[in-house]
Amino acid sequence: MDNEIIEYLKFLKDIGIDEIPRVKLTVSKPVNTEKKSVEEVLKQMAKEVANCKACPLSQKRQNSVLGEGNPHTDLMFIGEGPGADEDRQGRPFVGRAGQLLTKIINAMGLERSDVYISNVVKCRPPFNRDPEPEEIAACWHFIEKQIELIKPKVICTLGRISTKTILMTTESISRLRGRFGEYKGIKVMPTFHPSYLLRNPSAKKQVWEDMQKIMHYLAEHSETLGEKIKKKLEEYNGKN
Ligand code: URA
Ligand code: SF4
Repeated sequence: MDNEIIEYLKFLKDIGIDEIPRVKLTVSKPVNTEKKSVEEVLKQMAKEVANCKACPLSQKRQNSVLGEGNPHTDLMFIGEGPGADEDRQGRPFVGRAGQLLTKIINAMGLERSDVYISNVVKCRPPFNRDPEPEEIAACWHFIEKQIELIKPKVICTLGRISTKTILMTTESISRLRGRFGEYKGIKVMPTFHPSYLLRNPSAKKQVWEDMQKIMHYLAEHSETLGEKIKKKLEEYNGKN
């Protein structure tokens, strides 16, 4: 017999009740208080996004793009929205701009799988136009939830749209970039979008300055990424 039932019977005896009450003695299942893992919630969200019709961007998409990477990371990159390649593959930043972002991440001493990469809208705006404010508003709850789940120490916003959305400001990206802002207690580093860098390679220098600020911050504040970043910083210092 189940230990719990035996204990219950002993307890009844102790308090002077010799007859077993006419109730069915069953052991109730423990209430499932276990929380879903971040991975499970993100998987569920990917399904929701794939079925979402909350804004007109749903009509032309081939694939929605929730985001990808390490959901336990301290560093999250947020872009604008999927382009043609991303729409085709259902993955963020895999086209030309994406390859440049990958190089930037590598230059920080990290792999794509060390960080999490996402966008403010999850479906491709036609002809790569800017997402409309109504579309950003309709999609906002997804990125909001992703940030809440991932809890990064630093968010790097890529370009004007993502920076304005996360920091809720109308200031220009060239004024905002290079200085840490804040979103719900998380450091936010705005920088130029990699597509802008493809058109204006000379701005790479400024983006690199911004990345170094992130690196120095995470070298001190990230248990998971700190060592890799420090190693890379030492490598750069050794070269100087
Ligand atoms: N540009 C973006 O903003 N996001 C992507 O995922 C790809 C290109
Ligand atoms: Fe839904 Fe966002 Fe796609 Fe619009 S962009 S349909 S809100 S997932």
